[in-house]
Amino acid sequence: MTVLSLALREGTAEAHTLAEHTAFMKCFVRGLITPSLFRQFLANLYFVYTALEAALANTESMRPIYFPELNRSGQLAEDLAFYYGDNWRDQITPLTATRVYLSRIHDLAQSDPLLLIAHSYTRYMGDLSGGQALSKIVRSQLALPEGEGTAFYEFPALPTPEDKKAFKQRYRETLDSLGLDEDAIARIVKEANFAFALNCNLMHALEPELKATLGDAVWQSVVIENQPSRREHPRPAAVAV
Ligand code: HEM
Repeated sequence: MTVLSLALREGTAEAHTLAEHTAFMKCFVRGLITPSLFRQFLANLYFVYTALEAALANTESMRPIYFPELNRSGQLAEDLAFYYGDNWRDQITPLTATRVYLSRIHDLAQSDPLLLIAHSYTRYMGDLSGGQALSKIVRSQLALPEGEGTAFYEFPALPTPEDKKAFKQRYRETLDSLGLDEDAIARIVKEANFAFALNCNLMHALEPELKATLGDAVWQSVVIENQPSRREHPRPAAVAV
């Protein structure tokens, strides 16, 4: 019998590698992100989480996998006030790639809410995992004042690494207790690959500005090194949005 949490982990491993190897993420982990790019990234994620969290909260059948302690939109609002100022709401608009992401979440909430599981998994499990290292990198890169600018990566209800680890286990057990059949599991894994692709597209949309800021030489050196082979890591078909 297929177990959903394992199927998701194994079935999105290649998509995860591709997401880690976007030029945006490569620059991020090398401490090359700029304040302008970081705040745009957070602003676009704010739109994504606001849509996702409304969809999860308002869909009766999603109750078992709705964990308000994971919610990111309030945390992101704090960061946006820090980076843009009090009138941050008037200064942010979603990129086209983000609008595509949002319309997918809205469509699923209306017509196929089961697949919201894939979107919840892709974002929150990532935030609880690699997101924690990204926080340290950006704090040092942007020389942020104590306690400001990375609320997105903080989970007040899960403050320690042990809390996060235990929660991820609980999340996986919750997924596995849903008792979904093979067909439903296959559809959720396919949607999770699509969710990774939507995230990659959001990051790709920020790359032209990053490239212009860093200059061609730095850009080429970061982007070319450790490029995953396309044969080993083919893009999911769903990437074409
Ligand atoms: C440089 C960027 C990234 C790094 C270094 C990174 C690192 C990691 C690590 C180390 C784990 C394993 C944690 C564990 O086993 O407990 C993980 C898991 C995960 N990451 Fe990432 N990640 C990155 C980018 C992303 C992105 C962009 C997404 C999605 C948008 C993502 C989604 C996930 C998910 C869903 C998991 C959970 C896998 C599972 O256990 O089922 N990651 N990441």
